[in-house]
Amino acid sequence: MQKMAIYPGSFDPITNGHLSILRRALTIFDTVTIAVASNPTKGTLFALEERIEMIRKSVKDDEKVFVDSFSGLLVDYVKSKKTNVILRGMRALSDFEYEFQMSLMNRKLDRNIQTIFLMTDYKWLYTSSTIIKEAASYGGGINGLVPDIVYQKLREKFGYQE
Ligand code: PNS
Repeated sequence: MQKMAIYPGSFDPITNGHLSILRRALTIFDTVTIAVASNPTKGTLFALEERIEMIRKSVKDDEKVFVDSFSGLLVDYVKSKKTNVILRGMRALSDFEYEFQMSLMNRKLDRNIQTIFLMTDYKWLYTSSTIIKEAASYGGGINGLVPDIVYQKLREKFGYQE
């Protein structure tokens, strides 16, 4: 039986750190579905459609990767996909409390669902969508931190031309 992991998040926008977690997860799972939260608790810079488009263009045509969106409880979405694995990346200790809380709440909501964490590669330890957006908003050089399509979109969003 094929094992699918659900990789949920806001992906506002997807970064090279996310892609690194995805690639590594594909060495463990048969397929990974990137599940984009349609209305995350925090406001987003990019609309849902833009976030999905950037992910699709970044993962290209990998037949082991699916891109989808979800609303409501993550555990309900995971169940609807007939799997029981949530995949999350973890950076430094600063992520730990939030991830711990989220995985315990998800476990309380459904004991059959397991959250698997992959530690980020040291290269992406200091990056996050939030900090990248902030740097980009002031015209900072964020090349190498995000896929090309995201780089272009961030520059467009903040009014910087090549
Ligand atoms: O990339 P993010 O913003 O850290 O992702 C957070 C996300 C979207 C995975 C999380 O907020 C979520 O699962 N939202 C869906 C609502 C839900 O199930 N909440 C209860 C679990 S804490």
